[in-house]
Amino acid sequence: MKVIICKNYEEVAKKAASLVIKEIKSNPHLNIGLATGSSPLGLYKNLIEAYQNHEVSFNDVTSYNLDEYIGIDRSHPQSYYSFMFENLFKHIDIKPENIHLPNNDLAQIDHIADDYNQILHEHILDLQILGIGSNGHIGFNEPGTPLESETFIVTLDEQTRKDNSRFFKNLDEVPKYAITMGIKNIMYSKKIILIASGKEKAKAIHEMIKGKITTKFPASILQLHPDCTIILDMESASHLS
Ligand code: GLP
Repeated sequence: MKVIICKNYEEVAKKAASLVIKEIKSNPHLNIGLATGSSPLGLYKNLIEAYQNHEVSFNDVTSYNLDEYIGIDRSHPQSYYSFMFENLFKHIDIKPENIHLPNNDLAQIDHIADDYNQILHEHILDLQILGIGSNGHIGFNEPGTPLESETFIVTLDEQTRKDNSRFFKNLDEVPKYAITMGIKNIMYSKKIILIASGKEKAKAIHEMIKGKITTKFPASILQLHPDCTIILDMESASHLS
């Protein structure tokens, strides 16, 4: 793992954007895995700015999102579909047909995981962006998810639902299920960049980098990835030394 510690979140976002832009410049047809949550928001802002300043184009980039809630419609403001369009896609020149998010249609529940997995098998990711949950989840791979897991439907941890309730009116509104890329899908990406900030993440960051590799703390498995860069602010890195 390569660990980069920045002064603050603004610097984390800039650093992550500079690495992503470098990858797109060296391969304009990049297959990129994208994440939601507050952590990548600054990265997306910087990417939008870089596009507006003609520094980078997403015209040939293809994206694959990590996960999506099940139980809310794609049109719901808190769906990851809405999140991605609001915070990135509608501001850049990525082609709509190159955007992939897991389908969350309940009517197709028996095959949506296999369908998305098939797409991932056909397109190896060059770069995967990740955040980390306070319980160590990556995507929605909650503690206990087996290493070999591929895209599946997950029952969300109570901790995850509590953490994410800040985006909803109350805890009851937070979906109980989601569809997520599995740990194996994530580990197959050629490169990984994980972003974290804030003191609430300090324990999880310590566990991920210094803790023992265990499915009980899914992010620790990233220690086994050959090209994984962790970009942190000082607060989230505060338990490392
Ligand atoms: C969500 C997402 C994850 C994300 C995590 C952390 O539950 N499924 O992909 O990394 O929460 O979110 P945040 O960056 O808002 O702390």
